[in-house]
Amino acid sequence: MVEIRLENLRKTFGEIVATDEVNMTLKEGELSTLLGPSGCGKTTLLRLIAGFYIPDSGRIFFDDKEVTMIPPYKRNTGMCFQNYALWPHMSVHDNIGYGLKLKRVQGMKYTKAAIKKHVEEALDLVRLEGLGHRHIHQLSGGQQQRVALARALVVEPDVLLLDEPLSNLDAKLRIEMREEIIRIQKELSITTVYVTHDQHEALSISDRVAVMDLGYVQQFDTPKAIYSDPQTVFVADFIGQCTFIDGVIASIDNGITVKIPNNQVISGKTTIEGYPFEVGETVKCAIRPEDLELARSGSDDNEITGTVTRTIYVGNALEVYFSVGEIDAEAMLEPDSNLVIGDSINLFVPRTDVMILPIGGVDALRKVPGHPLYETSSSTSTASNA
Ligand SMILES: Nc1ncnc2c1ncn2[C@@H]1O[C@H](COP(=O)(O)OP(=O)(O)OP(=O)(O)O)[C@@H](O)[C@H]1O
Ligand SMILES: [Mg+2]
Repeated sequence: MVEIRLENLRKTFGEIVATDEVNMTLKEGELSTLLGPSGCGKTTLLRLIAGFYIPDSGRIFFDDKEVTMIPPYKRNTGMCFQNYALWPHMSVHDNIGYGLKLKRVQGMKYTKAAIKKHVEEALDLVRLEGLGHRHIHQLSGGQQQRVALARALVVEPDVLLLDEPLSNLDAKLRIEMREEIIRIQKELSITTVYVTHDQHEALSISDRVAVMDLGYVQQFDTPKAIYSDPQTVFVADFIGQCTFIDGVIASIDNGITVKIPNNQVISGKTTIEGYPFEVGETVKCAIRPEDLELARSGSDDNEITGTVTRTIYVGNALEVYFSVGEIDAEAMLEPDSNLVIGDSINLFVPRTDVMILPIGGVDALRKVPGHPLYETSSSTSTASNA
């Protein structure tokens, strides 16, 4: 098992900064995902780890060994590419065995018999026993996916790298294969990096998730921490539903109190330990729709008043859209809440469920002592997306 350490990685293509200031440690035996929208740099980062790209700057370690300049075939990684990249004219067996043909163990080539044995083991692992003789074009999408996985696993890699491995499969197969990948990953305890742009997939399979945007890793943490303690507005928005209400900090004591539109105030907490909030600072109050409920008269004072603009009945809940001044917000209420457009509503939200976030995206994190991005003044980043 191998721990992967990425130190200040940067990779550009001409003018395009594909990924920058990546600092993270992927623990041995864990499954980490790179999650983010199209073009955010996921494949680039994966290919840097595989060795298909050399970074412009920064270093990559597998345990204590630096591999930054080591070519892919010497890193002992297994990779599934975004489009499988299987050879259509070859049989399943030959596709899977190809990597072994090239590989030498202590200077010795694998014998034909050894290749056959390893390929059969890999086929068993991905549950394609007996299909070795078929040609690739005689397989379904899901079976091709399994071949690609077997090909990555047959070399007994220290590190497994999977680039959107399920993107070509239908919803049902995707869930089935996802479970297979988790089973194999846990069975073999391979340090695995998994690329996806599907947040549900990421949350359900990962030990840790790296949420990326514009080439930056905005947060790298457990699924639970990503959801409950987002470090940027982008992360809060990308993972799950979130309503954002703009405001200005009025006071800071145990919690943070924020002035929001229509002369209202609301109190919340910070999710970023060590961020130096200041009175007068413009912030966003991030609230999950399920954390709002209709206020009972005389209840707690942490309330928001708004005007209902739309309601959608979804069976187990009523989605209520409402406006607070110019801001559109959303609440998930009891299905029997009787509300119509134009109603004024009072919604209660516990202080611990109002997440006060700085604007300024990842650049705000540069003000947090101990954060990997803390005051890295060398950066000329413009990756602020509030
Ligand atoms: N070989 C290349 N030459 C030039 N630009 C590239 C190259 N590869 C990637 N890029 C650019 O770098 C950025 C990151 O690309 P990357 O492929 O890493 O994104 P991604 O997150 O994997 O996206 P997707 O979800 O669409 O696969 C994009 O702006 C992309 O256009
Ligand atoms: Mg990609």
